[in-house]
Formats: sequence, structure tokens, C-alpha cells
Amino acid sequence: MERKDFIEQVGLSAASVLIFGCMQSCSKSDSPAPSQPTGTNNNNTVKTIDFTINITISPYTNLNTAGGFYIDRTNSIIIARTLTNEFLAVSAVCTHQQVILDFEASNNRFYCSGHGSTFSTTGAVTNGPAAAPLKQYKTALSGNLLRVYS
Ligand code: FES
Repeated sequence: MERKDFIEQVGLSAASVLIFGCMQSCSKSDSPAPSQPTGTNNNNTVKTIDFTINITISPYTNLNTAGGFYIDRTNSIIIARTLTNEFLAVSAVCTHQQVILDFEASNNRFYCSGHGSTFSTTGAVTNGPAAAPLKQYKTALSGNLLRVYS
């Protein structure tokens, strides 16, 4: 083999290795973007709540009666109307093991059927095993429109 032929063959082999390596690297860049680092998902972000519902229109009509309540599953908020026509809004998720709460109008409290925890109208724990309070939201009624906000 001539020296010139040898150099051409080695050069082609080296170029092949470089091209193959580059193609592998490039194909990795086509993969989906990495997910968020562990521990920084949307549950850890603070979500601003501000929405208005018409309590005379379905599915909110339970709130048009004293003692009624509605669970907004989109925002995980339970909205209740007490027997004295006060509007309440707290997180709908029990702080013990994340069961969705009910409102007990006759006892004026939020109740978890999971393990019996109860919460006051402000979301404070009144009976465990839940230890942490519910997040409370503000409410404002104007005519038939109820605003729920943080
Ligand atoms: S999940 Fe609510 S008390 Fe256990």
C-alpha cells in the first residue's frame, strides 16, 4: 500500500468515526426537554385564586341556599354557605391524606370522611388526625355573583 493510499484510508475512517459520533450527539438533542427537577412541581408553586361564579346558575345553585356547598375541583376549593348566609371558601383537600372535604352546615364545619378530621369555618383544625389547617380564601357577594379570591 502506498503511503498516500494509507493516509486516505485512515483519514476516511477517522472522519467516519467523527460523523457517527456527531450524529449520536445530535439525535440526543431531539429528545424531549428534561422534566422539572425533583421537588419543584406545580404543587409547590403559589397559585393566585380570583374567580367569580353566579350562584343561580348550574353547577353553583347549591350555594343559592343556606347550608349548601360546592366543590370547585379545578382549583380544589370548597365553597360553602352557612345557615346564617355567610360564604366560606377553603382548600377542599384534607391536610391529612388528601381526601376531598364536605361542609356540614348543621355543625358549621368542614368534615373529612377519610379519618374524621374537622375544620372550622376559617380552616383551622378542630379535630385530628389532620394537623395542618386548610388554606382560607376570601369571598365577596354582589347580587348573584360570588367572587372567591386569595
Ligand atoms: S384524610 Fe382527612 S382525616 Fe385522614
